Amino acid sequence: MKFTIRLVGAIWLSVLIVIGGFAFLQIREERERLVDDLKRRAVLVGEGLKEAIEPQVARGSTVGVERILKKFGRPTRGIAVYDRFAGLMVATPDVAKLLPPSLPEVTDAVANNAVSQGFRVVGGRLAYVYAAPLTQDERPVGALAVFLDAEHLQAAEWDLWWRNALRFLALALVISLIALGLVRSSVTAPMAKMSEWTKALRAGRYVPPPEVPDTNVFGPLAREVAGLARSMQRARAAAEHEAALRLAGESIWTEERLKQFVSLRLSGRLLVVVSNREPVSHVRKGGRIQTLTPASGLVTAMDPMMRACGGVWVAHGSGDADRETADARGRLAVPEDDPRYTLRRVWLTAAEERGYYYGFANEGLWPLCHIVHTRPVFRPDDWASYLEANRKFAETVLDEIRNAEEPLVLIQDYHFAPLPALIKAERPDARVALFWHIPWPNFEAFAICPWQQELLAGMLGADLVGFHTQYYCNNFLETVDRTLETRIDWEHFTVTRGERVTAVKPFPISVAPEFVDDPPQRTREELRRQLGISAEFLGVGVERLDYTKGLPERLRAIQWFFERYPEYRERLVFVQLGAPSRTSIKRYAELALEVEATVREVNQRLGTKGWRPIVYLSGHHEHREIWSYYRHADFCMVTSLHDGMNLVAKEFVSVRDDEDGVLILSRFAGASHELRDALIINPYDLAGTAEAIRTALEMSKDERRARMTRMRHVVSEHNIYRWAGLLLSELSRIPVETPGVKAS
Ligand code: G6P
Repeated sequence: MKFTIRLVGAIWLSVLIVIGGFAFLQIREERERLVDDLKRRAVLVGEGLKEAIEPQVARGSTVGVERILKKFGRPTRGIAVYDRFAGLMVATPDVAKLLPPSLPEVTDAVANNAVSQGFRVVGGRLAYVYAAPLTQDERPVGALAVFLDAEHLQAAEWDLWWRNALRFLALALVISLIALGLVRSSVTAPMAKMSEWTKALRAGRYVPPPEVPDTNVFGPLAREVAGLARSMQRARAAAEHEAALRLAGESIWTEERLKQFVSLRLSGRLLVVVSNREPVSHVRKGGRIQTLTPASGLVTAMDPMMRACGGVWVAHGSGDADRETADARGRLAVPEDDPRYTLRRVWLTAAEERGYYYGFANEGLWPLCHIVHTRPVFRPDDWASYLEANRKFAETVLDEIRNAEEPLVLIQDYHFAPLPALIKAERPDARVALFWHIPWPNFEAFAICPWQQELLAGMLGADLVGFHTQYYCNNFLETVDRTLETRIDWEHFTVTRGERVTAVKPFPISVAPEFVDDPPQRTREELRRQLGISAEFLGVGVERLDYTKGLPERLRAIQWFFERYPEYRERLVFVQLGAPSRTSIKRYAELALEVEATVREVNQRLGTKGWRPIVYLSGHHEHREIWSYYRHADFCMVTSLHDGMNLVAKEFVSVRDDEDGVLILSRFAGASHELRDALIINPYDLAGTAEAIRTALEMSKDERRARMTRMRHVVSEHNIYRWAGLLLSELSRIPVETPGVKAS
């Protein structure tokens, strides 16, 4: 209310000042015009009479003057003639009785022998008085006065003031009404909606932000409130979850527990994570900057951990708008709406990226470790770029930990085999772990890498090397044993090389219990409608387009299924989400084409007028979007030909809070060791995979529920917080090496 009064008051005052100013000027002009007019008329009359009257006055002939005046007198124009002593001689009848004995204008005119004029009230009315001297031989003998009625001047002035007052009222009223209408529609109503919304959020109900007309005004506020609400919701859910767990006497790792663990066990020590892939990238799309969560299992796993622990995440800034969204040092707070940790971006040249990332890491090490019949390529130039990029990352990490005592550095993946040794050489007090997210092959397979010794030596710079499974740990230890001069302790799984000891342990990685914080409210029906699907069953696959994922094999198995079980035609649609990945590598480009061609072929061969067996959605999909597919599918297929862990399998399980849905999982994915209630398949066996699809579709609801419940138990217990907790606990237990003093 106060605001409205202030606003209306301000409008009225401004209109008053503007209209008042203009009215003042207008009235002044009008007055000047009218006065000029009076003057002109008075001069005309005066000059006209003067010549005729002058001789009469000089002669003192009152009668002569009277005669002349009779001819010239008018009701609005009085004329009077005065003698040389300024005494009244003759006047027209209308003014004769009103005139005072003496008039200053007349006295002036006689005394100065010059015209004198001005306004004067004569007989209670305003008159314009024009007095001109009458002369004989240039000497004054009297004066002639003309009286013009000037009452209309005041009337005209009042009229103008009045009109302007009306104009002011009308204008102020109209502007006030428009302003009030605008305030109501653009401020009051959206504010009311926003406050309803915040009330709902405070009550713990998640309601999407209201549509507001001006996103420039309310957008930032809505974003802040949404962020605040999410934090509150998370805190509330975490507290409830903690309480429930305490009641049930369970010791499940939660975000809260990891936070406490970090603050107690690490007591303020800096945590730095290093990975090639960044948790968020900024890309330019249609002239705007978009924030993307890259399709990467590593990011899905590490981001919740970093949100819980805080610290710095060092990664390659790969988005084309990454530089604009970071500060001069390449740093930015993440997540943008609720900062929990710092992302430090490392800038690589296109040539470095080509050699280090596309070349050595993804054309060399990736196929080397996965063994899926794609030949690794090792080029000396790529190796040089790989080393160079590792040195760049090392410099950045060293810069970040410069002022930190005994920092913890968690290096991620096959992009950084040399990095642990580079960091340890400069900062022996840092505790360095390297976690290898992909499989570790057997010794013979690894031995084809020309730089195997350098890679292993770099890795053994770490205090701790982690893999997803014990099997990969064993492969690694054996590779080290047969490649380098070291001592392996098979009981404690450590490698001693010179003075340095490296522990080698399995830490099966996982996901956060919540795949997304605020799942979309999209129902299965809405999803089907959006996809234009009317079939009763829905299968889903979510992958980066990578040849290790067994996509062509999966599509062929689906084809096989429909050929073997035609009764399921038109009743099942399989939706494949495929995120383009490493596209400048020939093998990946070929795979993308192969997948498209296979989808086309299967659809052409089996599809009918209203049914396509496979819906292929190629492109980037954010987690919230993927959530709906996981949540509403009857089954999810993971058919990796070889996979370190595969988090899609765990994501699918974590989303199924309806305890339904079947997971078909490759036995060659690390996840198959934990998710034993999935339908485990050999992806190379098309008939076996097709059989698993049939089993999934025909499985009883009870069995689906029982299997999913058990898998959910595994995923919720072995979650990413536990992974991080165990890894950090192991790392922080490793004694510090002080230069010159042997670690105890
Ligand atoms: C695997 C690797 C990760 C990588 C992810 C996505 O999960 O282990 O290090 O981030 O694939 O691949 P990209 O090359 O796009 O990062």
